[in-house]
Amino acid sequence: MTKTVRTAIFPVAGMGTRFLPATKAIPKELLPVLDTPLIQYAIDEAREAGVEKMIFVNHPSKSAIEQHVLHDAKLNATLCERGKGKLAAELEAAALNEKDIEVVFTHQDEPLGLGHAILCAREEALPGAVAVLLPDDLILGRPGALGQMISAYENGDVDHMLATMEVPRENVSAYGVLSVSRRDGPFAICDGLVEKPDADVAPSTTAVVGRYVLDNSIFEALATQEPGAGGEIQLTDAIASAIGDKTVAGYRFAGNRFDCGSKEGMLSAQLFLAAQNPAYDEVISEFLGTGAQAEVA
Ligand code: UTP
Repeated sequence: MTKTVRTAIFPVAGMGTRFLPATKAIPKELLPVLDTPLIQYAIDEAREAGVEKMIFVNHPSKSAIEQHVLHDAKLNATLCERGKGKLAAELEAAALNEKDIEVVFTHQDEPLGLGHAILCAREEALPGAVAVLLPDDLILGRPGALGQMISAYENGDVDHMLATMEVPRENVSAYGVLSVSRRDGPFAICDGLVEKPDADVAPSTTAVVGRYVLDNSIFEALATQEPGAGGEIQLTDAIASAIGDKTVAGYRFAGNRFDCGSKEGMLSAQLFLAAQNPAYDEVISEFLGTGAQAEVA
């Protein structure tokens, strides 16, 4: 049977405490890397992967996300009137237009965990497996990580597929980590999944990052999942509880991933993208060449 992945879920209702005070008034998912908000990178990745419907699980206090995501005809008209037609066209191309793709905003009224946020999308999800993208994990790759995963998913025999990368052992305690029973190319078939293990007991250094393709049964698993760490409904727990009944596998995507929910990851992403764009050469070489670092300190 073809397992077409038609739905992408964007859980964006979290509090973003690691990035306070920036996230006191601005949703974490709207923090920009250069001039583009994190959510836009994730939307573009899902659009390129060919999903038909995008579900944003948002918190009522973060309505600016909706404002960014949807086309703003008034803003575009104003830009055109002021001779900024090129900019207007770029904004229109980036925005989600409900003529081309189904877009739904749903609420998670309290941040009760990533698993709970995904469960909030249950009624809106189309039949079949669903993709989940955490926009604060910026993944730059061509094709995008989700596109790579969906192709592998639709041609393979995995029920729950988790994006993975190898991390240094001393860093494993920041991640969900796989216990791997078998490796097959980019796949790591998994017989266990541990959230944030201590480095000395971690079952591997294969860490989960923010892209998933999940069999539809995940919703039922989440609905019956007891709260875990921090009193939250954890996605990791629901996936771990399916191991045995379902095939769970890591998928090692090609691309560069940045944890933009952390200040260090965000800074790396900014530098990485700036270094690829000749427009920033002068700023970067001035900074490196003049000892500006020392002056700032
Ligand atoms: P994080 O684990 O980074 O949590 O969420 P957070 O609350 O946003 O940030 P910190 O850790 O306090 O700094 C990963 C993704 O899951 C969403 C977030 O919005 C982010 O996109 N999320 C998290 C929810 O939608 N609801 C939740 O209850 C928790």
